[in-house]
Amino acid sequence: MIRDTLGDYTQKAEPARLLDAGIESILILACGTSYHAALIGKYIMEELLSIPVRVELASEFNYQALTLAKAGALTITQSGETADTLKAMRKLKNMGCPVLAITNVVGSSASRIADQTIYIRAGPEISVAATKSFTAQLMVLYWLAMSYSKADARRLADLVMGIRQLPKKVQQVLDNEDEIMECAKYLAGYENAFFIGRGINFPVALEGALKLKEISYIHAEGYAAGELKHGPFALLSEDVPVIAIVAQDNTYEAMLTNIKEVKARKSPVIALVGEGDEDIDQLADLVITVPKGDAMFSPVVNTVALQLLAYYTARQRGCPIDTPRNLAKSVTVE
Ligand code: AGP
Repeated sequence: MIRDTLGDYTQKAEPARLLDAGIESILILACGTSYHAALIGKYIMEELLSIPVRVELASEFNYQALTLAKAGALTITQSGETADTLKAMRKLKNMGCPVLAITNVVGSSASRIADQTIYIRAGPEISVAATKSFTAQLMVLYWLAMSYSKADARRLADLVMGIRQLPKKVQQVLDNEDEIMECAKYLAGYENAFFIGRGINFPVALEGALKLKEISYIHAEGYAAGELKHGPFALLSEDVPVIAIVAQDNTYEAMLTNIKEVKARKSPVIALVGEGDEDIDQLADLVITVPKGDAMFSPVVNTVALQLLAYYTARQRGCPIDTPRNLAKSVTVE
């Protein structure tokens, strides 16, 4: 799917008129998993497009009184039918703001409201929990940012090489299921869990927690690792495992410190780390290794590993993985 999405876009996609229109800032609106993709999009676009990106929950945007001078809006919605996102899109249109929709469903309401639509081409997604659509949303955000990038030629060449290596790296994660299943067996015995990450992997911690709570019914929360000491530390104990996303980037040392702080408060640690990382081996109770690469693309391999962790944990707990209780694939009510 990643290869197809990339192939399609590098060869055929029409330019995004929104980014051609000389906008000075971007507002991204979405809900749930799509909102987590939007948060990652902010890191990608601010680095490559050098313009400010603001991300808002569509459900909250409807209560905000903000002005959008020279701004363009992106709305991300797998189904294209999420009521909160559609209402926000209509509000944007009434404000005269150009709207580009990123969706998976051709002919959906979102594609009819938007000025332009980019399809993520993930194919039909059956299970309530969004998985492949999330990865495909990230592919489109990478493509958009790289296509309009202000980065120097050297950086762009590295990114092109990095994104082309993603299918192989994701396959490596899928092939590493034994290690992930061992962590899932361990995690299945708990009722609460924290996910922590920093920088571009903070939203990955949010998404990992959402996937686990959606399909395994474990009460999981995602946090920016730097926030734990401002309150959540109070909840740590031997009954609350922490899944720490340790990327090989400028957040590495700070994440090591966070793991030591969490261990000092008796919480077991499952660390998601780049292959060949001995330091973490000493610190963490369990480790999930992922292929190394450009930090910009680490959310893809890390998220696939956390999707598998949630899947095997839910299976271990005998949960109905594709049809979790109390949830709908497309939330058409506000
Ligand atoms: C994710 O697994 C959930 N199904 C849910 O959070 C979903 O992402 C949210 O309802 C938004 O849906 P959309 O992308 O179709 O707008």
